[in-house]
Amino acid sequence: MKIGIGNDHSALELKAEMIDFLKEKGHEVVDYGTDSPASCDYPVYGERVARAVVSGEAEQGILICGTGLGISIAANKVKGIRAAVCSEPFTAKMARAHNDCNILAFGARVVGSELAKMIVETWLDTEFEGGRHQKRVDLITAIEARETEEKAERM
Ligand code: RB5
Repeated sequence: MKIGIGNDHSALELKAEMIDFLKEKGHEVVDYGTDSPASCDYPVYGERVARAVVSGEAEQGILICGTGLGISIAANKVKGIRAAVCSEPFTAKMARAHNDCNILAFGARVVGSELAKMIVETWLDTEFEGGRHQKRVDLITAIEARETEEKAERM
């Protein structure tokens, strides 16, 4: 699978470990930065990975900041993105199976690298179940459509 990965300054080390782990598992990884330890703004990297996923440049995304929160909130502003913060494998499994999430986020200040690997592995091994969950995901997409319509009406 082609995976886009992005992070802020708090997650450089964990990102490097995740890239190695993903490559060992046979995945292709595109790194959207940051590659610098200098303090930076997580929305920049959240948006980059989100746009890569929506355009099809990457099939799935992984985002890491201190908590996973800011970077996932930023990614979720991009239409078509369903990013979920997962700090353990059960949530990662459900985020794929029930919510068809397309970006996994977690916090470098929250999870250690071994737990992060379990979360990533569970995420990548779980398929969306569809069925009754498809209707609910469609309702999320409908909210986005209404937002776009309302914006157009205001202009
Ligand atoms: C950076 O200090 C920190 O705020 C960021 O990594 C993240 O945790 C934000 O949600």
